[in-house]
Order: sequence, then structure tokens, then C-alpha cells
Amino acid sequence: MSGRRHRGVSIVTPTLREAECLPALAARIDAVLSPAGIPWELIVSDDDSRDGTAAAAAELARSLPVRLRVRRGAAPDLSQAVLDGIDAARFDQVVVIDADLSHPPEAIPRLLKAIEGGRCIAVGSRYAAGGRVAGPWSLYRTLNSRVATLLARPLVRCSDPMSGFFALHRRFVPKRSELRPIGYKIGLELMVRGRLPVREVPIAFRDRRRGESKLNWRRRLDFLRHLHRLYGFRFGLAARLANFGVVGLSGLVIDTAFYLGLQWAGAGHLLARFLSFWPAVTWNWRLNRLLTFGDRPRAARARQWTRFSIASVAGLAANFGAYAALTGLVDLFARHRLAALFAGVVIGSALNFALATRFVYRR
Ligand code: GDD
Ligand code: MN
Repeated sequence: MSGRRHRGVSIVTPTLREAECLPALAARIDAVLSPAGIPWELIVSDDDSRDGTAAAAAELARSLPVRLRVRRGAAPDLSQAVLDGIDAARFDQVVVIDADLSHPPEAIPRLLKAIEGGRCIAVGSRYAAGGRVAGPWSLYRTLNSRVATLLARPLVRCSDPMSGFFALHRRFVPKRSELRPIGYKIGLELMVRGRLPVREVPIAFRDRRRGESKLNWRRRLDFLRHLHRLYGFRFGLAARLANFGVVGLSGLVIDTAFYLGLQWAGAGHLLARFLSFWPAVTWNWRLNRLLTFGDRPRAARARQWTRFSIASVAGLAANFGAYAALTGLVDLFARHRLAALFAGVVIGSALNFALATRFVYRR
């Protein structure tokens, strides 16, 4: 990081059609930092907005340290835009802030103070003591925010991990190859993958007054996918096992539905039992491919399905075999058959999982 200056701050703002907001943002930053004698630059990381954002930045650059970086050729991506902006930073201290004035630039000095200690990330928090959401935020928006925050709870100790307003030293930003964000929550990505202790700075968050929120189902789904990745990163094997278990339970529902449905349609119970196994196995294979082992390379479908079926049959055999052996040979289990049933399920699932890891969804 030689050549990067330590005094001063690079402020990165991602933009998608924010021409109207930029002048006020730059003016407010200038009003806070210049009198305090803190050298600064504002890096506008724009996704080729074509609404006059570029012209507005160029105009500002005539009198203020504003730099425009236009991302072209890539799909618009808030997280990547922020990372590109950070890459371009001239100073070691970096602040990320929304362009729409939701975050008060007046809090920047407090964020910088909070990272003086070194290896940490300072987060502008709505939910820390003294922080708040100013102005009208519908019950619906509030609920969305609270649920999202709750889902991220086990990942990081922070009252507002959804915040897009944060500061850290450039040298503590993980390498690009270590980051795999999806969607909007680049702050959360940095906290979790950088294993950075969080310092909270209470802020008054203000919803945008112009334009409209881009919160939609697409973004919610992106958030869930991002969370899924971060849980995998943070909890490793435990996360995979839990995932496999949940998929297995959902497969049991499919299995039962087909078992009952086929009999309702007139099939005998043994035939129904035999047939219902396959949609359940297929369901499990598909979901594990998508979720549990979503980070592994995708093998050809037919071959992988066959392998998963073999692993599942082996698991079933182990399950049944364990039950038969335990109830037949161990007195305790002979008296408590339900315990043998559970032991069989655990043993069968463990084998199924081990085979899935090594044989079906190989690295
Ligand atoms: N370059 C780029 N590319 N910028 C983007 C993109 C994109 O695809 N999408 C959004 N932005 C910019 C916006 O122009 C704005 O400056 C900032 O990212 C946040 O986008 P908003 O559309 O205002 O998001 P929001 O208000 O729903 O969400 C914000 O609020 C959360 C807290 O509730 C985000 O700032 C979150 O980071 C924040 O935590
Ligand atoms: Mn906003």
C-alpha cells in the first residue's frame, strides 16, 4: 500500500442515476471536512447512469476533489461498484456512503475517529443507542429492515449490519479474490469475510426524498443468496450439515406426499413406497446441487443424479441395516425400538452426506 497517504479520507459513493443528489452530497462533505483540515476526495463509482450523473460529477470536479469512475461493460452491481471505488482510493482511510443523502456526511469525522484504533470497521448505525430512522418509514420498510437484520444476527455483532455507511482502513479490506458479494450488502460482506470487529456510530438515517426505493423481490432473493454464502463461510461444515438436513426434511415431505398421493390414485402401498422414493431423491439432488453444494463445480446432470441416487440408496440401506442390527443384537434397542429408528436415520444420513461430499458433489 505504498504511496497511499494516511492522512485524509477517500469517500466512495456508488451511484445509479443520482445526478440530482451529487451536488448536495459533495457540498455537505466539503462543509464538514475542509474546515476540519482533513484532506478528502469523493469517488463517484457510477454504473453508467446516463442521467447526467457524469456531467454533474465533472462539474463538481472543477472546484472540489471529486473523481468520477464509470463502470462500463459490466452489469450494474452496487457491491462491485463500491469495491472498484475502494480500489481507486488515494488515501488509506476509506468511507462508503450512499449518494442519496440517506446517510449524514456530518457523521464522517466520528466514523474516522472510530477506526483510529486500526483493524476494525466503523458502521453508521440506525439501531445503536442514539441512532434513529428520521422521517417517515412505513411499517413495511421497518419490518423488512428488522427481518433482514435478524437473519444476519448470527454472522456478526452489529446492531445494523445492513448499513451501507461505513469506514475502514484500506489495508484491512480483504483481497478481491476473497470477496463474493451478491447484491447490496457490501458492508456485511466486509465485516464477515474480513473478520473485522465492528465499532458502531449512531446516525440518523433519512430515507431518500427523490426517486424511489429499489427494494423488490429480486433484491430480497439476492440478499438471501448472499446470506447463504456468508453462513457457509462463517460456519463451514456445520452450515453444510444444517443445509443438508433441511433439504433432507423437505425431501421427506415430497416423499410422503407422493406415497399418499399414489395410493389415493389406486397404487398399492409397496409400489407407492417404491415409487415415491424417486421424486424425493430427485428433489434432494436438485436442492443440494443448488444450495448445500452450490459452491462446488457443476457436474453433468444425468451422471450426478445417478450418483446421488446411489448415495441415497446406500444411505437407506445403512439406515435399515443399523435398525435391524441394533434391535436384533442390542438389548437396549430391542426394548426401545424408536431409539433404534433414530440411530438408523442418523447413521444413514451421515453416510449419505459423506458420499455426497466426496462422490456426488466433488470439488
Ligand atoms: N454503481 C451502482 N450500481 N450504484 C448503485 C446501484 C448499482 O447497481 N444500485 C444502487 N446504487 C446506489 C444508489 O445510487 C445509492 O447511492 C446507493 O447505491 C443505495 O441505493 P438505494 O437505492 O438508495 O438503496 P436503499 O435506500 O434501498 O438501500 C440503502 O439503504 C440500506 C439501509 O436500509 C442502501 O444504502 C443500503 O446499503 C443501506 O444499508
Ligand atoms: Mn437509499
